[in-house]
Amino acid sequence: MVLSKKDHLVGLDIGSSSIKVAELQISRNKKILKKFGMEPLIPGAIVEGRIMDMEAVAKTIRTLFRSQKIRKKDVAISTGGHSVVIKTINTVKMPEKDLQESIVAEAEQYIPYDIEDVNIDYQILGESQFSPDQMNVLLVAVKKDLVAEYMDLTANAGLNAKIIDVDTFALQNIYETVPGQDPDDITLLLDVGASKTSLNILKESTSMMMRDNDSGTHQIVEQICSRFETDVQEAEKILQDPEENAPDPEVVAQILDDVANIWCSEICEVINTFQSNTNDTRVTKVVLSGGGSYIPGFADKLTSELSAKVVTISPFAGLHLNEKKFSAAFTSRVGPRAPIALGLALRRVDDK
Ligand SMILES: Nc1ncnc2c1ncn2[C@@H]1O[C@H](COP(=O)(O)OP(=O)(O)OP(=O)(O)O)[C@@H](O)[C@H]1O
Ligand SMILES: [Mg+2]
Repeated sequence: MVLSKKDHLVGLDIGSSSIKVAELQISRNKKILKKFGMEPLIPGAIVEGRIMDMEAVAKTIRTLFRSQKIRKKDVAISTGGHSVVIKTINTVKMPEKDLQESIVAEAEQYIPYDIEDVNIDYQILGESQFSPDQMNVLLVAVKKDLVAEYMDLTANAGLNAKIIDVDTFALQNIYETVPGQDPDDITLLLDVGASKTSLNILKESTSMMMRDNDSGTHQIVEQICSRFETDVQEAEKILQDPEENAPDPEVVAQILDDVANIWCSEICEVINTFQSNTNDTRVTKVVLSGGGSYIPGFADKLTSELSAKVVTISPFAGLHLNEKKFSAAFTSRVGPRAPIALGLALRRVDDK
C-alpha cells in the first residue's frame, strides 16, 4: 500500500511488563480513537529496555494486532531508559544546515558513549536565556545496537518501524492534547512504569528538565516475591488485588507504603535540583502515569511532599471515541498505562 503523507502510524508502546497499541484517525479538527489494546508480556522477556526473548515479544505483538484487528503495518515505537541520552545544550547560534554538520562534534562532549555507537538527533529550541549569541538545542542520542534490536523485533512481528521516538516525548505529545490546562502551571509529567520512571518538567510545551531512573513497580513485585515466596506472576496478582490474593494484605500495604516513600523522596530530590537551578521555580502540578499511579497513597504522599496539585493523566480526554466500544470505565481503568501508545499514534509517516 502506498502511504499518503497524511497517514498516521500505529502507536506501539513496548513496555517491559506489557505491550500497548493505539490507532487514531486524525483530521484537521478531530482525533478519533479507532483502536486501543494491551497484552501482558511474560516476565523477563524485556529487561532494562533490552529484548531478552525476541520470539516471545514478537509473538505478543502479533497476538495484540490480531486481537485488535489492526491491519496497518507501519508503526511508531519508542525507547527510554539508559540507552537514550537527552540533553539540552548551549551552542553558538547558527543556521540549521550548519548545525547538522557540526552536531556530532558538538554532541561528543555530552554523550557518555562512543559517538560511533549512537544515532544522534536534535531540535533547535530557541535563543539561550543567557546570551543572544547562543541557542538551546535539544540533543537526543540513542545507542545503535538498541535501535537495531527494536528494528529486528518489529520486523519479526511482521511490522515496519517508521519512527523510533522517545517515551518521554510521546507522553508529552498526548498530554498536550488534553483539554483544560492552565498555561501558568509548571507541570511535572511523571511516568512510573514497571521497570523505570521518567520525569519531564514542562513550562507550557517547553521541557525544562528531563530525568530517568530505575524505579518502578518491579520494586514492589520483588518484595512481594521474597516475602511470600511466590513467582512474579503470582506477585503481580497479589499487587493488583491484595485483599483477594495476598496471604497477609497488611504486609502488602506496608510494602506499598515503603516503596511509595522511596519514589517520593527520589522525585523530591529531582525537584529540589530543578528549583535550585532555576531561581526557585516551583512545580505546581504533577501529572501521573504508568502502573505506579495505581499504588494507593502514592498520589497523596506526592501532594503533601510537593504542595502541588497531583492528578492522574486522562490521555483519552482530547480524543473522540465511541463510548459503546470504549466505555468510560475502560478508559479510566487503562488511562494511566495508555498515554505513550496514544502519543506515538499521533506521529505521521513524514515526521522527523
Ligand atoms: N491495578 C493495579 N494495581 C497496582 N499495580 C498495578 C495495577 N495494574 C498494573 N499494575 C502495575 O503496573 C505495572 C505495569 O505498568 P506499566 O504498564 O506502566 O509498565 P510498562 O510500561 O510495561 O513498564 P516500563 O515502561 O517500565 O517498561 C504492572 O507490572 C503492575 O506491577
Ligand atoms: Mg511504560
